[in-house]
Amino acid sequence: MPSVGTKAGTNAIAAPTDDKRWRVVDATMRRHGYRPAALIEALHSVQESFGCLDEPGLQYVAASLGVPLSRVFGVATFYHYFSLKPQGDHTCVVCTGTACYIKESPALLRAIEAEFGIANGETTPDGSLSLLTARCLGTCGLAPAAVLDGDVAGRLQPAELLERLHQLVGAAKEVAAR
Ligand code: FES
Repeated sequence: MPSVGTKAGTNAIAAPTDDKRWRVVDATMRRHGYRPAALIEALHSVQESFGCLDEPGLQYVAASLGVPLSRVFGVATFYHYFSLKPQGDHTCVVCTGTACYIKESPALLRAIEAEFGIANGETTPDGSLSLLTARCLGTCGLAPAAVLDGDVAGRLQPAELLERLHQLVGAAKEVAAR
């Protein structure tokens, strides 16, 4: 059985795997009393233990500390010393959870793929933009939602999202041309 650490009164969650390194992460969160303020320490612990922050790890930290997943993604993508699997200069996390799916989040992904030539988990060849998906960012009222370089963006339309991504990466035409 994996070690399970939870703040009293919050949802219990099992570690993503039986990997003993999760005990290190759990010990870090326990040392901080599973308080939301332990978020950065916890993410450091995941990164040092596993080399990067993947979605199961982010979900585990979010649930254990009682922090919305959107905030965890926000912190994880804001600080450059944290790395999600793909490492672009800018990161877009599109939610594909039920609420966002119903509100056409797949259209957001298709738009990004058509414009920047990247699918989920990929980075543009020039390293300017990475695309990720999440199953629920915890901001369903804003569906369809995404996290752009740490900032939550809600009720997105494809054209609006592309415009915001172009603003993030700057020379959009160069991206498409490479
Ligand atoms: S399903 Fe997208 S934020 Fe919850």
